[in-house]
Amino acid sequence: MDHPEAIENLKARMASEVSRQTPPPTFKGFPPLAPGRYTSQDFFDLEMKHLWTKMWLYAAHESQVPEAGSYLLLDIPWASIFLIRGEDNKIRAFYNVCSHRGAPIVRDKEGKERLLRCTYHQWGYNTQGKLVSVMHERDFAETFDKSCLGLVEVKCESWNGLIFVNEDPNASPLLEWLGMIADEFEQFEMDKLRPAAIRSYELTCNWKLTMDAFLEVYHIKGIHPKTVGPALDETGAVMGLLPNGHTRMTCPTTMGEEDKINRGYADDDTSLPPIPMGEIAANYHVSHNIFPNIITPVSEGARQFLMFWPTTKDRTRVDVVHFGLDWGKNEKPKAWETLLSFWEVVMGEDLQFLEQQQRAVVSPGFRGYNLSFMERRIYYAHESIDRIIGPQNIPEDLRVEQLLKDYQEQPWHHAADPILLKQQAAE
Ligand code: FES
Ligand SMILES: [Fe+2]
Repeated sequence: MDHPEAIENLKARMASEVSRQTPPPTFKGFPPLAPGRYTSQDFFDLEMKHLWTKMWLYAAHESQVPEAGSYLLLDIPWASIFLIRGEDNKIRAFYNVCSHRGAPIVRDKEGKERLLRCTYHQWGYNTQGKLVSVMHERDFAETFDKSCLGLVEVKCESWNGLIFVNEDPNASPLLEWLGMIADEFEQFEMDKLRPAAIRSYELTCNWKLTMDAFLEVYHIKGIHPKTVGPALDETGAVMGLLPNGHTRMTCPTTMGEEDKINRGYADDDTSLPPIPMGEIAANYHVSHNIFPNIITPVSEGARQFLMFWPTTKDRTRVDVVHFGLDWGKNEKPKAWETLLSFWEVVMGEDLQFLEQQQRAVVSPGFRGYNLSFMERRIYYAHESIDRIIGPQNIPEDLRVEQLLKDYQEQPWHHAADPILLKQQAAE
């Protein structure tokens, strides 16, 4: 995204989006998304089996496990997993399950230990997950072999200070999965940041409703009239559909400093030290979706990872990690308080209808989602879910038609707007 051609390409595409009066001629509309995608237990079970337990999922920032022995218990709803930095400085992830009879090894959310001791019968594990001590070992048979009874490891890789885990032992490497996202994120130098706050919101709705809500800017004048609505020109939003289900949105901004002050609300993060970013992110609103569950808006002094975690088919936890430039040994900048209270207002706006929408999808009054061209990132995310589950595994009435795969962007050096290219070819 720092490439000069890429910058020009994105600017031209935003201008072209603003000026069009109709969708591109190649756009023939999206079939409605079936309500059952949000309500069916079978569909949820398919997601669990093929998606959630096979994906690279953001776990933490490296600064959260700073020293040998630092551990962090993750909040993944379906699996108890913790991170620990070993004596060898490597960060590993383990299931929080004792090899004796399954009691938890780690019970505090975070801490620091050189020897992790299961409280139940005192089995002890080192920071690399090896079983090193067993109480009354004399009572186990001769065949008992401590070397085979270490904690079960979960795949764990770091990228730019960000730690991801994947429960699938056969998963491809993280960087391969991230693909273009990894290149585009170089400009953000995430290893120089650190989480300033983490906020969570529990909602009675399917996780995809929360995801859908953050994949479009069609709603911003409707539900954010006084906060972020006036700041963006949603008609210029460009949706980059990237391989592996990832997406990027770039959107022109419309407000000068004076407008911000006149509106009298406090989203001003300019008193936070600026975080690294390239030209497009500095001048436009940029937000990526790292598939399946992260949305990453960025502003001058802060960036967020919004994450959607299914707890059941109709309950979701939304976590928002607020990152800022590492303040080292100094006090955390006071401006965070202002920014966080602004975010509470905006999140309240964004989440306000989701529980009612969940009730709506089971109502005879609802016939399915009807999406516009501007909402194509939502359709693409649903297509990507189906591609990962395998369309043949999904009941026909719940499947989405694969329509957008051919519109995926290629890496920047031969970047061109695939939608426009198809359009030109059709003209
Ligand atoms: S369950 Fe951990 S020592 Fe028994
Ligand atoms: Fe919003």
